[in-house]
Amino acid sequence: MSTTEWGPLAAVHERSPLLRATRDRYAETTPFAGLTVGVSAPLTPHTGLFVDVLATGGADVLVTGEAGSTDPAVVEWLRDRSGVTPPASAGLSASELTDTRRELLEAGLDLIADDGAHLVSLLHDEFPDAAAAVRGACEQTTGGITRLQAMAERDRLAFPVYDINGAPMKRQFDNVHGTAESSLTAIAELTDIMFAGSVAVVAGYGRCGRGLARKLRSLGARTIVTEVDPRKALEALADGHDVRPMSQAVGDADLVITATGRYRVLRAEHLDELADGTVIASIGSAIEIDDEALADAATVERRDSGVARYTFTDGRTVSLLTDGRVVNLAAPDGTGNPSAVMDTTFALMSRGLAALAEGVDHSPGLYDVPDRIDRAVATEKLAAMGVEIDEVSPEQRAYHEEWQTHDAG
Ligand code: NAI
Repeated sequence: MSTTEWGPLAAVHERSPLLRATRDRYAETTPFAGLTVGVSAPLTPHTGLFVDVLATGGADVLVTGEAGSTDPAVVEWLRDRSGVTPPASAGLSASELTDTRRELLEAGLDLIADDGAHLVSLLHDEFPDAAAAVRGACEQTTGGITRLQAMAERDRLAFPVYDINGAPMKRQFDNVHGTAESSLTAIAELTDIMFAGSVAVVAGYGRCGRGLARKLRSLGARTIVTEVDPRKALEALADGHDVRPMSQAVGDADLVITATGRYRVLRAEHLDELADGTVIASIGSAIEIDDEALADAATVERRDSGVARYTFTDGRTVSLLTDGRVVNLAAPDGTGNPSAVMDTTFALMSRGLAALAEGVDHSPGLYDVPDRIDRAVATEKLAAMGVEIDEVSPEQRAYHEEWQTHDAG
């Protein structure tokens, strides 16, 4: 395809060497020939390229997006792509999207690429017979893995699922670096905030929160972390951040960002403490900020796209970004993480699905991505960046394998 034929995917295609190589390989090997793959994910240009890789590999791909993060240009581009069925339109409501997911599941799937476990949970809930026919799935988000762990613990999974989110090549780059960079870009574009010198509260010191707090501090912000896990709180302290409960942190904040994936982390009891002018956003999920409590306590005015200004009766105003939905994806120009990390995440997804298509020796359950896949993605990424590394020498290997050697001190 020429650059112009990639349309809205052109820039992403240029910056995704692993997906390009995977696409070329799958055009030869067609690992998905005769298989139907369901894809549920924010429909950004990155996802569009991933869908194209699957279709090039022979799959019949049925695609559903997410409310608020579906790019109409990508939907239109996919409509012209043979072997791909995109959603009817980019502007589907949450309930219309669930109906689209039902239609997709009714069609019968062999493989699933999921984001948030939406397809997998709906399938097991409403279409148990169709679940029995599925070869396997890949899940790429923290929130989705939490739900799948609950299903696996109750023996409710009907097929093997690869935990893409837990793979080192996903979690150490996509969550830590990509999410922080794209979220801070989105926040800067939506507001007039200057990070340097501002006080930023980061809720959650997991992979996303730690990456975000670190980048905020490198920009000159003063950071306060809130946590519920004592080890994470200690880690945040050791990394040099202030640590407090949310109720004691919000009063000092210019910026509050949630990165937990948990329900109502910023809620009614915190609203009285918020300082005038505070900017509030989530990078974790749409459930973390209690926007109903905000709407009850304050009047709302929507001046700019993506920014809702709430005014309390005492005159304080706070700005909620993208109605509490993840800001890097839901911002008007938000396309999620940079291509450099989505390339590796979707390379893992593609290869995980290809392994499942080939047939893996797994009973139903949640599994780590095979190390050979993660390592191959890392090796190809380094090669694409033109970076070389050392190899373990035969002498080094022998020293570590021969455990009875004692003479080296
Ligand atoms: P994680 O599990 O590594 O970290 C979550 C942290 O939040 C944990 O340390 C946990 O102890 C803490 N936490 C839980 N409840 C809390 C509360 N009430 N107050 C304060 N801290 C609390 O998860 P990870 O990988 O950092 O992901 C976090 C969220 O970000 C997930 O929902 C994930 O799906 C989402 N995510 C968003 C991306 C984006 O592009 N916006 C990309 C990757 C992940």
